Amino acid sequence: MANSEYEYVKREFEFESRLPPSNWIVVRIDGCHFHRFSKIHTFEKPNDESALRLMNACATSMLEKFPDIVFAYGVSDEYSFVFREETEFYQRRESKILSLCVSYFTSMYVMKWKDFFPNKELKEPPYFDGRVVCYPNLKTIRDYLAWRQVDCHINNQYNTCFWLLVKSGKTEKEAQQALKGTFSKDKNELLLQQFQINYDDELAMFRKGSCVYRDKDLSFGKSISTFSEKLVTTLKKCSINLTGVSGREEKCRYEYVKKFDINHRIPPCNWTVVSINANQFEQFSLTHSFDKPNDETALRLMNASASLMLELFPDIVFGYGFSNEYSFVFQEKTELYQRQESLILSSCTSCFTSFYMMKWKDFFPNKDLVEPPHFEAELLCYPKQKIGTLSKDKNELLFQQFQLNYNNEPAMFRKGSCTYRQKVEEYVEVEGSENITRERWDVIVEHVDLGMEFWRKRPYILSR
Ligand code: GTP
Ligand code: MG
Repeated sequence: MANSEYEYVKREFEFESRLPPSNWIVVRIDGCHFHRFSKIHTFEKPNDESALRLMNACATSMLEKFPDIVFAYGVSDEYSFVFREETEFYQRRESKILSLCVSYFTSMYVMKWKDFFPNKELKEPPYFDGRVVCYPNLKTIRDYLAWRQVDCHINNQYNTCFWLLVKSGKTEKEAQQALKGTFSKDKNELLLQQFQINYDDELAMFRKGSCVYRDKDLSFGKSISTFSEKLVTTLKKCSINLTGVSGREEKCRYEYVKKFDINHRIPPCNWTVVSINANQFEQFSLTHSFDKPNDETALRLMNASASLMLELFPDIVFGYGFSNEYSFVFQEKTELYQRQESLILSSCTSCFTSFYMMKWKDFFPNKDLVEPPHFEAELLCYPKQKIGTLSKDKNELLFQQFQLNYNNEPAMFRKGSCTYRQKVEEYVEVEGSENITRERWDVIVEHVDLGMEFWRKRPYILSR
């Protein structure tokens, strides 16, 4: 982007928020719409052992991939990753750390699905959102983990009772009513009396969640620092019980740890752009023997993933991609995740990763996906009048990258790809006594110049 008249769009509007030093960084990811996802994939209720083991396997891969993650704690569709206090991973840049973590986790989830569900097709792309929280000392990070485990306990005990009642013939409403106002000991009593189940005999993974960490005795090695060892040793002692108080519902004791979770919101009247970029793409394209410098099929796969993004997120009005990156423009007034930056950034990156993997076989029927593709992303904010120059800037960069005979190259290589909606049909439907005009819009992909002419002809894209 250097030497470009549009360079300022990156320099001025990109926020490179760095996380404060000497803090434990936690990335907590959570499955998006897993209520639906678990239904579609017929997960067992309330706990599906294979689904949980899949989550654990992904978390283990995270610790293998990122040496600075010292501990992970997971329950249900969520996982928290604790980075060592002094980590310099990505110079502590929040968006890079968050997007990469959530994308790599998603990628592993799709890659490993078949290992845990050999007889179940992955019907919908799984994706996750994520947030980053900093904890300033050992006490707060331990309290954070204890809070998550208390949550696990409360939810699991409730769900265990609830689904047993439902399976025994009660309606969901009746089961809910039966459990209203009950305490932990009442639920234990109910399990014992009505179902002859001792709650403590349930799988520890269900009751206490899962911890993943390196053990000095195991092959993971001794590279953990003294501080990390301190955390791991402390947690190891209580890894069976991070809370140290079993059975008591004292969620409120941990209420204060929520205060560290600061959600930045995108200021109003700004266009949001999520710019996604494949990480370690050189290696990835080598492994999958992509053509150099452009692999047409790989670009088409990026475009297909981008089109699906426009279908899933109605607030994305425009996508622009070239090489291994794609930028998505959200409509100015989007209320997606109440404009919370980290949730928008992470869910988009995760979703794009998932689409890319799920579509892989359509584009490369004879190539196995042998390495997890993963993406990093950043979120940029633009005041309204600047948006038109955005993608043009990317085009500039593209021209600079392919000086060699680029006029003869396919337009997709020279100009990149734009993805947007276009009205293809307007028709009248009779509903009762009324005639209702309906429209059909398709997502289209084009390889054209993004000058003023383009925007003049399609004013509706940015002015919905
Ligand atoms: P968002 O996270 O807000 O997108 O919604 P969500 O639908 O993912 O709900 P949430 O994260 O609050 O809760 C996780 C949901 O995932 C639970 O309510 C369950 O419906 C489902 N889930 C997670 N683990 C299991 C499991 O092992 N078995 C079954 N059957 N469902 C599960
Ligand atoms: Mg969820």
